[in-house]
Amino acid sequence: MAFDKQVTLPEGYNFRPMEKSDYHNNVLEILAILTEVGEVLESKFSAVFDRWSSLPDMYHPHVITNAEGKVVATGMILYEQKLIHEGAIYAHIEDIAVASSEQGKKLGYSMIVGLTNIAKKDGCFKVFLDCSEHNIPFYEKCGFSNGGNMMYVKFQ
Ligand code: ACO
Repeated sequence: MAFDKQVTLPEGYNFRPMEKSDYHNNVLEILAILTEVGEVLESKFSAVFDRWSSLPDMYHPHVITNAEGKVVATGMILYEQKLIHEGAIYAHIEDIAVASSEQGKKLGYSMIVGLTNIAKKDGCFKVFLDCSEHNIPFYEKCGFSNGGNMMYVKFQ
């Protein structure tokens, strides 16, 4: 499937890799729009960020900042090395959230397109994501196809 979409951000907004200093720049507040974050002290954030950074072939956390430099959207693309399809790399998109006050400005679209273009540039075979039924039309607008069912077991 051809994927030729481009990031389209309002003036002054920026799509960029997450930085450790984003702990103090609204990242956890944005993620709380998506799900429960709980208490994540700076030491925990720092340890998680260091682990991501030590595995640059796997983790690519990104943010969108507004004209004031404040984080207003989050997203992660991560890579899974397979044996199938001649050792292909599958990409997975996770943790997509846009500040409530910034929704409807194509930031979600730009986050998905930006992450997908990174996977395309890196030669990934396919990009996957799981979403709620009500978000299916959003992801279709981002160029994704509905591939069926997601199953899971929850431990906590
Ligand atoms: N249903 C139908 N259409 C939608 C929806 C929706 N739920 N959300 C956005 N759209 C449409 C928009 O109207 C727009 O259409 P247009 O191109 O015709 O104008 C297009 O999709 C792009 O919309 P954006 O402005 O880019 O959407 P936004 O920036 O508001 O981000 C998002 C959408 C990410 C779903 C946001 O509403 C959000 O953060 N929701 C709460 C958290 C969430 O559900 N995150 C997704 C979790 S799934 C995952 O992480 C893999």
